[in-house]
Amino acid sequence: MTSPRRTLLKVVILGDSGVGKTSLMNQFVNHRFSREYKATIGADFLTKELEVDGEAITLQLWDTAGQERFQSLGVAFYRGADCCIVVYDVNNAKSFESVENWRSEFLEQTSSLNNNAFPFVILGNQIDKDPSKRTVPLNHALSYCKNQGGNLTHFETSAKDGTNVSIAFESIARSALENS
Ligand code: GTP
Ligand code: MG
Repeated sequence: MTSPRRTLLKVVILGDSGVGKTSLMNQFVNHRFSREYKATIGADFLTKELEVDGEAITLQLWDTAGQERFQSLGVAFYRGADCCIVVYDVNNAKSFESVENWRSEFLEQTSSLNNNAFPFVILGNQIDKDPSKRTVPLNHALSYCKNQGGNLTHFETSAKDGTNVSIAFESIARSALENS
């Protein structure tokens, strides 16, 4: 018996060091969270099989290093991506300011023919922390996404307690599928 055909979708995850890219992937794929910080070196990837609107999908999640000294992955790494995730930490304003840099760097590298249509999913992570420490209000992030005019979706997440993680990745899979 032949197994049903699966659609392979490539998703690249970008964002400053320490925002929680690896942790979000681990929460989504393995339902695990570690408090220990181990910086991603170079790049790494995980796959997850899921179904979107009845279609069998394999999501190939390409995790990257936020640390500057590892940021020379370039075109080969981004090539063929169906969706790009950019993560920031809601308690770190600088990481939010970097979102647009990551997005434009990705578009530059891929020189997509239709930049406005390429799907980005922006994740504001670490919302489980003390709300009084938050420095990026939800409405700032929402107005950034709206004013950008491209294909941007936004979620706030916690890789620690799992808030919105599966909802966000389902949306990522759907965006990737629509763009594939
Ligand atoms: P680089 O690999 O250096 O680019 O960092 P990264 O974006 O992959 O960050 P990583 O997932 O390694 O997380 C950095 C630190 O933040 C770790 O100590 C995690 O435990 C912690 N962390 C990640 N996500 C969350 C979250 O949602 N809530 C809390 N409280 N801590 C988190
Ligand atoms: Mg990492």
